[in-house]
Amino acid sequence: MSVITKDIEQAGLFLSQGELVAIPTETVYGLAGNALDSFIVSKIFAAKQRPFFDPLIVHVGSRKQLLDCVADISPKAEKLMEAFWPGPLTLLFQKSTNIPDIVTSGLPKVAVRMPNHPMTLQLLQLLSFPLAAPSANPFGYISPTCAEHVQSHLGDVVPLILDGGRSSVGVESTIVDVSTTPPSVLRLGGVSVEEIEDCLGERVMIQQSSSQPQAPGMLDSHYAPRKPMYWWSEDLLSNSNERMGGLSFQDNIRGDVIFELSDKGDLVEAASKLFQGMRWLDEQDIDFILVKPLPNRGLGSAMNDRLGRACRS
Ligand code: TXA
Ligand code: MG
Repeated sequence: MSVITKDIEQAGLFLSQGELVAIPTETVYGLAGNALDSFIVSKIFAAKQRPFFDPLIVHVGSRKQLLDCVADISPKAEKLMEAFWPGPLTLLFQKSTNIPDIVTSGLPKVAVRMPNHPMTLQLLQLLSFPLAAPSANPFGYISPTCAEHVQSHLGDVVPLILDGGRSSVGVESTIVDVSTTPPSVLRLGGVSVEEIEDCLGERVMIQQSSSQPQAPGMLDSHYAPRKPMYWWSEDLLSNSNERMGGLSFQDNIRGDVIFELSDKGDLVEAASKLFQGMRWLDEQDIDFILVKPLPNRGLGSAMNDRLGRACRS
C-alpha cells in the first residue's frame, strides 16, 4: 500500500532520493519522477506497464525549469503560456539535451506543462529538477482524479501519494503543437479548442486517432473501464435482461444504477466527475454501462473524445 500524505516536503524528499510519487494536478493525478534521470523515468514506465513508445509530459513550476527542458520558445507558444499557464495545457517544444530520450520516446520534441495545483506548484518550486508524470493509472485504464483512485490501482508500486483532494478539471490537459501550420491539437482536454483558437487568432487542426498515434492517448481503446461500456442505443435496452449502469448528463439516461455527471447540465461540473463516475460504475453490480454523447462544445468535446475511446463498438 502507498503512504498517503499532505506533506509537500516529504514528497520532495522522496523525489530527490529517486523515488516515484503520485502528485495531484487540476486535471488528473500524475505518477511523477525526476525527468532528468533516465533510470528514474524507466521506473515510471514499469510501474504503469506503459509501452516505451508512449512519451511522457514534463511538469515545470517556473520559467527556469521550462528553460532547462526546451531548446527554444516560439512566439505562439509564449502567447498560449501567457493565457493558460499554470493550467490544463501541454505544449510541444524542441527538447534540450537535458531531457533524456526515454522521456520523449526518442522524439525530438518534448511535451511540457505547468500544472495549476497549489501543492504541486509548491513541490515543483522546491525541486531542482522538473517532473516527468503520466496519469497515475495502469496503462489503458481510467485516469485517477483523487488519491484513493491511485491507491486502488497503483498502491503496490507507488511508495507515496501526495493528497491534494479531488482534481478540479477532471480531464487531462489539451496537447498543442504550434510548430505546424496551422497549429495542431494532438489531444482534446481541459482547455477547449475554441479557447485556443481565440487566443492564437487562427484556426487549428485536430489530429484524428490512428493506429500509429503520435499520442497514445489517441489510441482507439483507452481510458476504458473493465466493464463493457457502449454508446446508448435502443437495441441494447430491448435485447437485454442484464443489469445496466448509466452515466447520465442532466438525467438523460435510465438504468438499474445511475451516476449523474451534472443535474443542471454544467459541462465543467460533468468533466470534474467523469472519471470518478466511470470508476464508480465499474465497481457496481451491473453488466454493462451506457452513455450518450455530451454537447459537443467546450469541455464536452474532450469528454466525448474520452468516452469514444472507452466505449466498445
Ligand atoms: O493532464 C495531463 O496531461 C496529465 C497530468 C498528470 O499532467 N498527464 C497525462 O499524461 O495525461 P499521459 O502520459 O497519461 O498522457 C500524455 C500524452 C500521451 O498520450 C503522450 O503520447 C503525449 O502526451 N505526449 C507526451 N509527449 C509527447 C511528445 N513529445 N509528442 C507527442 N505526444 C506526446
Ligand atoms: Mg494517461
